[in-house]
Amino acid sequence: MPPVNLIASDLPLSVEWKEEGLFILDQTRLPHDVIMEKHDNAEQVWYTIQQLKVRGAPAIGVAAAYGLCVELKKYKDLSPDEFIQKTINVARYLDSSRPTAVNLNWAMKRMVGAIMEMKVVSASELYKKLIVEAEAIHEEDRQISYGLAKMGSDLIKENMGVMTHCNAGSLATSILGTATAPMYLAHHDGIKFKVYANETRPLFQGTRLTSWELDKAGIDVTLITDSMAAHMMASGEIDLVIVGTDRVAANGDVANKIGTLGVAILAKYFDIPFYVACPSSTIDMNTPSGKDIPIEERSGDEITTILGNPVAAKNTKTRSPAFDVTPNELVTGIITENTIITRPYDKGLKDYFKEKK
Ligand code: MRU
Repeated sequence: MPPVNLIASDLPLSVEWKEEGLFILDQTRLPHDVIMEKHDNAEQVWYTIQQLKVRGAPAIGVAAAYGLCVELKKYKDLSPDEFIQKTINVARYLDSSRPTAVNLNWAMKRMVGAIMEMKVVSASELYKKLIVEAEAIHEEDRQISYGLAKMGSDLIKENMGVMTHCNAGSLATSILGTATAPMYLAHHDGIKFKVYANETRPLFQGTRLTSWELDKAGIDVTLITDSMAAHMMASGEIDLVIVGTDRVAANGDVANKIGTLGVAILAKYFDIPFYVACPSSTIDMNTPSGKDIPIEERSGDEITTILGNPVAAKNTKTRSPAFDVTPNELVTGIITENTIITRPYDKGLKDYFKEKK
């Protein structure tokens, strides 16, 4: 059994499934209000994902898997064929809530695949199978966090400064996070290090989420604005960067929260190792390169306002890509739950999946 006490005991979980009820933490209200909202249909879950109440690639996949269950519960009277068709339609609908994180698409395909594999049975048996599969996705995500922690924690040495961008923490997954998993374990092992959390404009995942969850666990975390990253590296305070990712392409290009590319370019300039941590489900061998990763474009309101308060003049023209792509040559290594993959990534990723089978 993995150690469960690496995150703060009072840190809320992003997604909870209790007696067939789906509860999702509203992350837009953090850190000031901790509110778990019950979800009873797919539409609610769609909006919750779209509005970033639940966010972070693995957490979105888990939320959508349970979202499928809460919706399909209403259709247990259908014939098995009708139930399967309904599941396919609802999965497609949930998958349309956000385009970049492949875990959402992966989870929806896996849920549909699980019931397609079954011999002809009743709709209520198919429904039960959906629940089993969603719970399996959730549990695997927890186990994967511990794998990432083990694989990555040796990178963190005594007195290091570790920079991270966005929130690839417990709140973005089922338990320890991806980029933060090695930090939680290194801290548990008594290593003394500092984390620098970039605020992550426009929605402040670093300010509101990463700083909060690491500080709660007793990790020494310092919040900086995104524009301070270069200065912190230039002044020698950063020895390592670890970020999460929403999708890794087959050539090792990596999509993550907008601003990550800038951090990676800086890390290269200052000769600082730049690692990406993710579960295998974030690696999309069907997407050949970063050019093929769909980049979500969000409403300009998210940048003309700061958390709801207007800051730009009315009618200011905006662009708001939510993610960027870091080319593989800037990535020192991809930490997965099983190993750290290094260059050349096209070969390394192919071999990884061959060995994993
Ligand atoms: O828009 P968000 O908050 O969903 O973006 C999240 C990120 O970019 C994370 O770094 C990524 O999903 C990895 S989460 C373990």
